[in-house]
Amino acid sequence: MVLQTRKSLPTKPGYLLFNSKEIQQNVLNFYNRMWKEYGDIVRLPIMPNYSAHLLAHPSYAEHVLFTHQELYAKPDMLNKPLNLMMGESILTSEGDSWLKDRRLMQPAFHMKQLANLADVMVSCTESFIKEWENKTDGEVIDIAEETLRLTLKIAGNTLFSIDISDEDSILGKAFRTGYEFVNYKINNLWTEPLWMPTLRNRRFIRAKQTLDNLVLDIINSRRQNPSERNDLLSMLMSARDEETGEGMSDRQLHNEAITLLVAGHETAASSLAWTWYLLAENPDIAENLQSELRTVLNGSNLSFEKLPQLEYTRRIFDETLRLYPPAWGMVRTPRQDDEINGYLIAKNSIVTVGAFMIHRHPEFWENPLGFNPDNFLPEKVNQRPKFAYFPFGGGKRICIGQNFALMEATIIIALVSQRFKLELLPNQNIEIDPTFTLRPKNGIKVKVWKRN
Ligand code: HEM
Repeated sequence: MVLQTRKSLPTKPGYLLFNSKEIQQNVLNFYNRMWKEYGDIVRLPIMPNYSAHLLAHPSYAEHVLFTHQELYAKPDMLNKPLNLMMGESILTSEGDSWLKDRRLMQPAFHMKQLANLADVMVSCTESFIKEWENKTDGEVIDIAEETLRLTLKIAGNTLFSIDISDEDSILGKAFRTGYEFVNYKINNLWTEPLWMPTLRNRRFIRAKQTLDNLVLDIINSRRQNPSERNDLLSMLMSARDEETGEGMSDRQLHNEAITLLVAGHETAASSLAWTWYLLAENPDIAENLQSELRTVLNGSNLSFEKLPQLEYTRRIFDETLRLYPPAWGMVRTPRQDDEINGYLIAKNSIVTVGAFMIHRHPEFWENPLGFNPDNFLPEKVNQRPKFAYFPFGGGKRICIGQNFALMEATIIIALVSQRFKLELLPNQNIEIDPTFTLRPKNGIKVKVWKRN
């Protein structure tokens, strides 16, 4: 490749390690500040010959995630902690092994299969609504906690046909302990190695053993009594490689199943929590939503076939993912020196494609901080570059659960809003916690009112 004369990369003076306290406190605020100070590309030296970069322009996102995706790998700093819990899986593998996983798993996420899962999502949401109906009017709940419970219920039921959201679920408890441990590993520069017998390590190892045994037991009992279940596990168990005819081993099924739980439940929960927050802050939009629900559902049941008619509901969720994308920065490392818009991006450096920044870029969004679902009217979408909006990533590593998540969110928003009005409790300190997904740091407290 002939490289043209390189431009000098805007660079933050000094090394990042010196700023690590600020980064530890809120890495998203730090990156946002870098974007405001240096512009759409900035190099952040970590040590001599080793730098991080923030990219905050749609064309740079397109370069890394799409046109030059073969040059970029997912870095060990993310993969290693994830693999501690899941083992190698579709989320962290690369090359041929990833391609094989993706080919085997893709059919489970086709629309035809998702149609079967829609009923499960509806019935989980209905049973959740029944619990809420026992609350007194005006009772205060934390909507972030509640949506997490609901998406975990949906994840367990769509994957294994088991409810793991229950406080008493042993699988659920082991999963939560493991998940918190992975979060801790990803978000701390230095952590004690796993062989050290610290309390945290021992707790993780115990939880991981429980999780492994339970998931392998579920797989085992399915192998012995193949059932007609339509859940994702059944789909994965019957998947065969087109070329070799091989299916997944028990260990691989185990790894992929845990991966789907990890990748699928908190991403959906955080974004839904932000949806309720935005709706409570924007009563005119909440009223438009009611009007769509009256027209489309008119009190009747929600089915897979009706989902495409819930256009405004879907636009509300699209707009939430613009303002609060759970994967706010997609991290990669170049396999060789690369050049983006005339800037050198060195081999083995860290590159963060800032979805949070690009989704709020004033060049591509009118009133970038406002909440406007009409940003997703088809004519508006067509005017923007493709990578001005990419909450599910792009290229071949695009989220496999995208349609699953969009369907789940539309169902939950529609059914819950039809039955309840949520009012924000005043004087709350509502803050983003950027570790892993963009969950609300202190939760979001709302009063729940039944609708007539
Ligand atoms: C609002 C919800 C969700 C959001 C915003 C989201 C976002 C993303 C993003 C941005 C990626 C690509 C990451 C990268 O390129 O570095 C990704 C990958 C992935 N997501 Fe999701 N996700 C969501 C829900 C789900 C659900 C519900 C599932 C499964 C049921 C899921 C499973 C996966 C898997 C397995 C991958 C890895 C795909 C691969 O590398 O081939 N996600 N997700």
